[in-house]
Amino acid sequence: MKKLITLLALPLFLAALKANAQKDTPVSVNQLVVVTNHPGPVISKDIYGHFSEHLGACIYGGLWVGTDSKIPNTYGIRNDVLFALREIKVPNLRWPGGCFADTYHWKDGIGPQEKRATIVNIHWGGVTEDNSFGTHEFMKLTELLGCDAYINGNVGSGSVKEMSEWVEYLTSDAVSPMTKLRKENGHDDPWKVKYFAIGNENWGCGGNMTAEFYGNTMRQFSTYLGNFAGNQLYRVACGPSDFNFDWTETLMKDPGTRSRFQGLSIHYYSIVDGWGYKGSATKFDEREWFETMRMNLQMDNIIKGHAAIMDRYDPQKTKGLVVDEWGNWFQVEPGTNPGFLYQQNTMRDAITAAIHLNIFNQHADRVKVANLAQMVNVLQSVILTKDDKMVLTPTYHVFRMFRVHQEASLLNIDLRCEDYVLGNKKIPAISASASIDKDGKVHISLANLNPNKPVTVTCPVIGDIFKKVTGEVLSAAEMNSFNSFEKPEVVKPAAFNGFTYKDGILSITMPSKSVVVLELTK
Ligand code: AHR
Repeated sequence: MKKLITLLALPLFLAALKANAQKDTPVSVNQLVVVTNHPGPVISKDIYGHFSEHLGACIYGGLWVGTDSKIPNTYGIRNDVLFALREIKVPNLRWPGGCFADTYHWKDGIGPQEKRATIVNIHWGGVTEDNSFGTHEFMKLTELLGCDAYINGNVGSGSVKEMSEWVEYLTSDAVSPMTKLRKENGHDDPWKVKYFAIGNENWGCGGNMTAEFYGNTMRQFSTYLGNFAGNQLYRVACGPSDFNFDWTETLMKDPGTRSRFQGLSIHYYSIVDGWGYKGSATKFDEREWFETMRMNLQMDNIIKGHAAIMDRYDPQKTKGLVVDEWGNWFQVEPGTNPGFLYQQNTMRDAITAAIHLNIFNQHADRVKVANLAQMVNVLQSVILTKDDKMVLTPTYHVFRMFRVHQEASLLNIDLRCEDYVLGNKKIPAISASASIDKDGKVHISLANLNPNKPVTVTCPVIGDIFKKVTGEVLSAAEMNSFNSFEKPEVVKPAAFNGFTYKDGILSITMPSKSVVVLELTK
């Protein structure tokens, strides 16, 4: 009976929402309708992916310390970081770059570590690397994390032969020179590689190519990437950044070009005030907070724009958008190498993560992979390390809270909410998404973007009645609260009880600047 009432109430709620949605009419009541009995597309777990580039202390020091290190490690990978990463269920890891990828020659990173050729990292600080972390070490890392490998090949300064041999080395079990070499290096069985990118940012650091030139080059490289031993490569073509729709149009319009890839990458960073002075990660005012949120929300328009082009040529949505670099990009921490892109991570970054993950969930029909930049010690990291110390950032906690959406089915929601206003600018105060998992549990994730006031959301849950509701919240005293090595638990999740659930309607009061995830169990 209760279920029936809930269903009958739907038209009333929708009518109320419509009335509320009159253009330019301020919303008096924040409403989030969640419909639980008509699930949509599956949210690919891979939109919760990560990115590890040879950049600063991401690989060397952050993930990899080597087997001789005093820092406890497994095959050279530091245990503290490994165990923490397992908690957030990393689904895939992209490596070795980034811009570094188009300078990387994989054969420098195989064989006995002490005999490996060194490389100067020309993009990131000009440091010399000893290549002790190479293909075998990366594949071991993915194995220890239980995640899929996403390898980024070198188009900019590499050759077709080099890339095709890398795929053969990784995945072939045929009698072949590359298989023989892999076996000589101690790995008899081929690995599985799920994602393989054909270059990175080839319009910029990956060779400064035009879209036409890259399209033809990608066709050539892709032709020689084999599917060996049952491994089916998901080839990712280099896509544009931001609002560069012409690049997407060029790669999508030609059937011969688009048939050569399964995914098209896009990159988008939120950079307050542009590429000059990018603002401090920790010392910022409300204008910078607001601007960061405003830029984060642009991700939705960027995806819509590129997806609209893809829809014209691929209405069946067989090709995925691969947002393989996203996040906040600030000034490096004072006193650190400008080429290492090391930044702290505050409550602002936590809201950023929630906004992006909600947007990716909402575009589950087209966005199939996304990778936060980057995993450890670089840009919007989930983990920071200093020698043998490790700290989990606010962004880490959001990834842990949102892991419940992985492989769940997207639910239809209708959100009407008040604005967060600063000066003459306004953005929606609330970000949300919802999913239902294979056990019938519903998860609703929300963020309150307003740093000044709590918000209350009325949330009719249409379709099913739930017996139990629990929640978790991440908030902080200040906009710029962060976890340091001295105080690692300033920002951490807590049980959330700021809600009621009666007659199928949730009423949720979120603290200012907070992220909330609710679980509804039948
Ligand atoms: O993530 C840092 C850099 O940003 C990457 O190497 C590059 O792809 C992008 O420009």
